[in-house]
Amino acid sequence: MFAQIRWRVSNFPDYNFSRNAMLRRIRHRTFLLAGVLRIKRRIYHNLLPSTMWDRLIQDLDTLLDVSDHPVTTLANSAAFLFRNLERINWLGFYLCDANELYLGPFGGKPACTKIEMGKGVCGTSALRKETIVVDEVEKFPGHIACDPDSRSEIVIPLLSANGELFGVLDVDSAELSRFGNEEKAMLEMAAAIIARKLRTV
Ligand code: SME
Repeated sequence: MFAQIRWRVSNFPDYNFSRNAMLRRIRHRTFLLAGVLRIKRRIYHNLLPSTMWDRLIQDLDTLLDVSDHPVTTLANSAAFLFRNLERINWLGFYLCDANELYLGPFGGKPACTKIEMGKGVCGTSALRKETIVVDEVEKFPGHIACDPDSRSEIVIPLLSANGELFGVLDVDSAELSRFGNEEKAMLEMAAAIIARKLRTV
């Protein structure tokens, strides 16, 4: 009887087709999952700084999928960068809505929910559409203190290909002058990848 069933099944082309398609799908999903698990297990801070940044940027690119909802892309970006960057106490997004920025996905202590365009480091970066590095937050006029531990900060605008502002990426550290030229260049690259992966809602 089993031989008969096997014969029937193997002579039923649709079954063979869907079985192969299913196996291909399983192989593809296993491949994707293995990639994500590899990224999750990676320890970046044991690497030399240049290798560390190369891997981090590459892995961020692999992790983000352009078909995901923008909130998903921002949430995974914030989690990934906050977990893997050293000596930072807050990292997250403020998103553009009319003349205001509102708090988006982040890692760190709960923060200010709204920032007026042009106010604080985030609002100034958003208005000018340029990166702002602050070595000592107390010396930045109008700095908004969300986390009293923060002593230096970098804010990078998230811009679409045609220069439209989506929001900003804000990173804070409890160390003075934490963000130098290398950090600036690499975080700008990370912000460019994130902006490229954000599909419009
Ligand atoms: N310091 C920022 C406000 C946001 S918090 O740092 C999370 C600013 O001055 O815009």
